[in-house]
Amino acid sequence: MMSKLFSSIEIRGLKIKNRIFVSPMCQYSAEDNNGKPTDWHTVHLGSRAIGGAGLVMFEATAVTPEGRITPRDLGLWSDDQIDSYADIANFIQKHGAVPAIQLAHAGRKASHDVPWKGNTTLTSDDGGWNVVAPSSIAYDKNSLIPQELSIEEIHKITKSFADSAKRAINANLKVIELHFAHGYLVCEFLSPLSNRRSDIYGGSFENRIRFPIEIVDAVRNSIPDATPLFVRLSSTEYMDMGWTIEDSVLFARELKSHGVDLIDCSSGGNSPEQKVELYPGYQVDFSDQIRTGANIQTGAVGLITEPSQANGILENDQADVIFMGRELLRNPYWPLYAEHYLDKSVDSWQNQYLRATPDSSPSFWLETKK
Ligand SMILES: Cc1cc2nc3c(=O)[nH]c(=O)nc-3n(C[C@H](O)[C@H](O)[C@H](O)COP(=O)(O)O)c2cc1C
Repeated sequence: MMSKLFSSIEIRGLKIKNRIFVSPMCQYSAEDNNGKPTDWHTVHLGSRAIGGAGLVMFEATAVTPEGRITPRDLGLWSDDQIDSYADIANFIQKHGAVPAIQLAHAGRKASHDVPWKGNTTLTSDDGGWNVVAPSSIAYDKNSLIPQELSIEEIHKITKSFADSAKRAINANLKVIELHFAHGYLVCEFLSPLSNRRSDIYGGSFENRIRFPIEIVDAVRNSIPDATPLFVRLSSTEYMDMGWTIEDSVLFARELKSHGVDLIDCSSGGNSPEQKVELYPGYQVDFSDQIRTGANIQTGAVGLITEPSQANGILENDQADVIFMGRELLRNPYWPLYAEHYLDKSVDSWQNQYLRATPDSSPSFWLETKK
């Protein structure tokens, strides 16, 4: 019998061959400040499609230049960026995976150097820019103090999300994910700790979810009905008086009624004081609660690294799909091993690699690992 991990899933009529989704992961590899994917992305994302994942997602891609975490982030704020995505999306699709993209605005966490140069805050003197947020509260003492967005500016950013989504569709991306997590702009609006506004975008739960719901409506209206729309949430921010899992369940119900198909259940990232206990599958329970409480499809993510672990989460109805990050950075071919381990099948292998399947090749790594 085929494992659940390798069974196909249909989301809004789009068939995805298995339930292993490549989690969005910034590569900080655009060049010349132009936000365009490079050969790095072709090889990086292309390998994971060849490696057998069902869905391959482009990293957090900024909807405005100021919405980038670093100058080397990807962006889709201009029509001249579309072609550089299309070739990669076509390659992913040609090899049996669904090409997807995460659209993002970094808010007060924008304007930093790349991680391997220390992640330091960049000021306008060293290539940075002014950062924006719901309120003038910096992320931490080393971060820039953000400028509070006016209502007109909020509306402009909503439109930027919709315009970028339209560009993504023109680039043959088949699934759009909105990044509402990890302390970036939209997450900052959701949290009562970072959103201290007194207008219609702050205060009550209804007011704090207004901006994200407006983004969802604008994006839904700018993409085909048949395009699945995902939202990544920080299910909790692990802070007293902060955004909670109960808030996420209520919010997910709203998102569903506005045309969101799946919640990608992450957590944290909005406060340097958060205390997170890390262990295998540490965010799975959030997926379980949102899935049951909001009756919506969910993805589990976070320290899911073993085939039986990933399959068990699905078999236990705690999630509909598994997003995998770092394990797929270490091993883009993980799905090929997992398929053999769970199902003794080689359906995910590309023709060019068939001479290396377990049946054709005398030694096979997974069996020596186990
Ligand atoms: C290098 C790197 C870049 C990341 N960039 C993003 C991103 O662009 N958007 C996002 O939502 N999460 C991002 N994340 C978080 C991952 O998508 C994932 O949620 C996290 O790593 C936990 O899953 P894992 O234990 O399978 O790696 C990033 C993680 C890593 C390691």
